[in-house]
Formats: sequence, C-alpha cells, structure tokens
Amino acid sequence: MSKPALQLMRNILMNDKIDNLYASQQSGQPFSFNHSVAEVFPDMIKRSVPGYDKILRNITRLSSHFVKPDTNCYDLGCSLGAASLAMSEGIQHQDVTIVAVDNSDAMLAKCKPHIDAFKHKCNIELIHDNIQNISITNASMVVLNFTLQFLPTNDRTSLLGEIYQGMNDDGVLLISEKICFEDETINQLINKLHHQFKSDNGYSQLEISQKRDALEDVLIPQTLEQHIYNLKDAGFKHIDCWFQQYNFVSIIAIK
Ligand SMILES: C[S@@+](CC[C@H](N)C(=O)[O-])C[C@H]1O[C@@H](n2cnc3c(N)ncnc32)[C@H](O)[C@@H]1O
Repeated sequence: MSKPALQLMRNILMNDKIDNLYASQQSGQPFSFNHSVAEVFPDMIKRSVPGYDKILRNITRLSSHFVKPDTNCYDLGCSLGAASLAMSEGIQHQDVTIVAVDNSDAMLAKCKPHIDAFKHKCNIELIHDNIQNISITNASMVVLNFTLQFLPTNDRTSLLGEIYQGMNDDGVLLISEKICFEDETINQLINKLHHQFKSDNGYSQLEISQKRDALEDVLIPQTLEQHIYNLKDAGFKHIDCWFQQYNFVSIIAIK
C-alpha cells in the first residue's frame, strides 16, 4: 500500500481529529497534555513541528543501527507512542523491550490502542510515571523526542546523567527539541519563520498567538550550545546535531 493510503487508513483507524483547540478566544490557561490535546495530538504535532515525520523515519534508521540483542530501549515522554513504533520498525532482534513512559493519563489512555493498531515486532511496555523516576538499565537506545523541553531546566542535567549511567557502551541517545538562539535578531527571525510554517499549515494568527502564550513557562527552550554542553557534562563522548529546521533540532549523543 502507498504511504498516503497508509496514512489515510491510520487516520480513519485512529479517528484522528483536526487541531482547532486555540481557534476561539481562550481564557489563558497554561498548555497541558490533557484529554483535548491527546485527541488532536497527531494533527497538532505534524502541523506545528517542522521535520517531525523525518525525525521519526530517522529514529527507525538509528534503531536498526544501534539496538543490540537482549537490551532495552526507552521512549521518554512517549505521548501516543510514535517514537516507540518508529524504533520497533528498525529493530532487527526479537529479544528487545521498548519501555515507553509518559506522565499524562490522557496520552497514555490513547497510547495503547494507538500502538495496538500497528503491527510491531518488539514488546512495548507502557509506564505511567514521571520520566525522572524511571530507572534506565541495559539501554542501547534512548529517545527524548520533544520531551526534555518540558522539564524544569535545573532537572535536565541530572536526567541526562541518569540516562548516561543506564546506557551500554556505544548506545545512542536521541534528543529532539525546540531551541532558542543567543542572538536576539536571529531568534526573532527564526520564530517568525516557524510561525509562517504554522500559518502555511492552516493555523490562524489567533491560534498561533494563543498557543504561544499557553506554552510560555511550560515549554522552556535552551540553545543548541547549552544542550551540547549538558550532554558533554553527562559524559557522552560523541555529540552532534543531525537535523535542524528553524528552531527545531534533533541531536544524537553516543556513549
Ligand atoms: C511533545 S510530547 C512528545 C512527543 C512524542 N515523544 C512523539 O515523538 O510523538 C511531550 C510528552 O512528554 C510528556 N511529558 C512531559 N513531561 C514529562 C515528565 N516529566 N514525565 C513524563 N512524561 C512527560 C507529555 O505528557 C507529552 O506526552
């Protein structure tokens, strides 16, 4: 079956809804991963995050390269399990467990049927918890796909340290994040380009500005340099940014 046909079938199967959560005037509540967001999440993330599908495709490629037999993989902040499914698709071994963690009830309630709707080779274990409480062990791959940005900045280094300690040598950590820039002129320009991207994907100016306000103090971006510094500090030997579009990046770090 062709890719668009598969996508259509997936949308029908999952009853994916269009994201119009910010289309009417809001009361200014901070953004949270609640039931309304979970309902529209696949549409929201695809129309808001440049390169999201590309990153998932490369998670598959990386898992095929890095995941070793009889090891664990972690999808931290799994939402509906897209990165777990992407990892599973690339994994070449039967005896691998993917541990998918999220602290949102609404997301996890939709995650299981979402994962079950797809054929996948690996055992995917869902855990409802804060990713900071998870013990990482025997890991050949860890994914933080747009999750670290929701943790308080002071907690990020210790989480990266825990991940590093629980990873096997030559294991890979993939971190995708929205970032900011030191240079304020560049920061403003790239934010504008991202807003244009959202507008091109059908979001109105009201939707864009209300969502931006709701995410203020909830999603705290750091610079690429800060992320690389944090990863070095955690002990990772080989670190680089393999993807960037506007203010969205994906970084790999190898132990
Ligand atoms: C932008 S979404 C991640 C998207 C997902 N990784 C993907 O590839 O589709 C962020 C997710 O992280 C979860 N999250 C945020 N902070 C968390 C924490 N401290 N512990 C567990 N989950 C967290 C949210 O509930 C949300 O589902």
